[in-house]
Amino acid sequence: MKATAQAPANIAFIKYWGKKNEVLRLPENGSLSMNLSGLWTETTVEFLPKYKKDKVVINGEKEVGEEIRVIKHLDRVRALAKLNFKAKVVSQNNFPAGTGLSSSASGFAALTLAASTAVGLHLSEKALSILARQGSGSACRSVPDGFVEWLNGDTSETSYAVSLYPPNYWRLADVVVIVSEEKKTVSSTAGQKLVGTSPFFPSRLSRIKAKLKLAKKLLAEKNFPVFGELCEAEALELHAVMFTSQPALIYWTPGTLKIMKLTQKWRELDLSVYFTINTGQDIHLICERKTVKPLINRLKKISEVKKIVVNQPAKGARLIGKHLF
Ligand code: PMV
Repeated sequence: MKATAQAPANIAFIKYWGKKNEVLRLPENGSLSMNLSGLWTETTVEFLPKYKKDKVVINGEKEVGEEIRVIKHLDRVRALAKLNFKAKVVSQNNFPAGTGLSSSASGFAALTLAASTAVGLHLSEKALSILARQGSGSACRSVPDGFVEWLNGDTSETSYAVSLYPPNYWRLADVVVIVSEEKKTVSSTAGQKLVGTSPFFPSRLSRIKAKLKLAKKLLAEKNFPVFGELCEAEALELHAVMFTSQPALIYWTPGTLKIMKLTQKWRELDLSVYFTINTGQDIHLICERKTVKPLINRLKKISEVKKIVVNQPAKGARLIGKHLF
């Protein structure tokens, strides 16, 4: 009763921020994302009658806060399978967690596929996405392949992600710039609970449906500069809501801001590149594949840049044969 899965992190072009149902993790709005080839989690889950309690090891450590969340997710899987064996879970990210690179998306997508397979459930992509969503909202988008939409359903059964296009649809890149590996002090889950305190959130919500529709149209047309502009404006809007929440959420560091400003400067000069940012200081630079090389050459000269990860659009969660224990 053992299985291992690998799942990618994803970057949202149109973001998920705010829930209409806290327990089921139903978002206030639909969102649009791309799976990332260079950032992933691998997770092995084994259910056995001899295990007396659940054991969770993440990146070689016992992380108390995350352990509780993982065990809750195992409980969802056990309830579906009508089984009560305890499990051992070993999970490994190939990138820093808690810095704005969506480790909970890759983590819960990999956990969902590995755990449901290990108990013998053979879930459809839709069922996996629904289950992953309950562990971490954005994880539902790491289940299907390539370019993904999380449908804005009002019930658990209608709130899941679907693939709009396969990874090879558009030669886009997400050049992730790590400016610090320091963990954020407020998690996305905690941050999202403050959304209602921002006076700008109702305004965001009133326009988000039209914005998502426009983003999908630009994606269909592969209109890069206009798509990039929309993504950058969307990230700034999300952070405007965060800044104006009470207490204010400020995830940027001076390094983040420096890369934002440089992105705008390079764009005025000669590089078609746009930024987007989630909950953390690390920053995603979106461009077409042909722009990656000159962009990296410039980034390498900036002292605040600690690490660069180049991502192409990727497949969603999948089973792999190599177990972690
Ligand atoms: O799924 P969570 O709770 O980690 O929230 C993700 C929130 C953002 O990354 C800021 C936006 C998104 O859609 O990924």
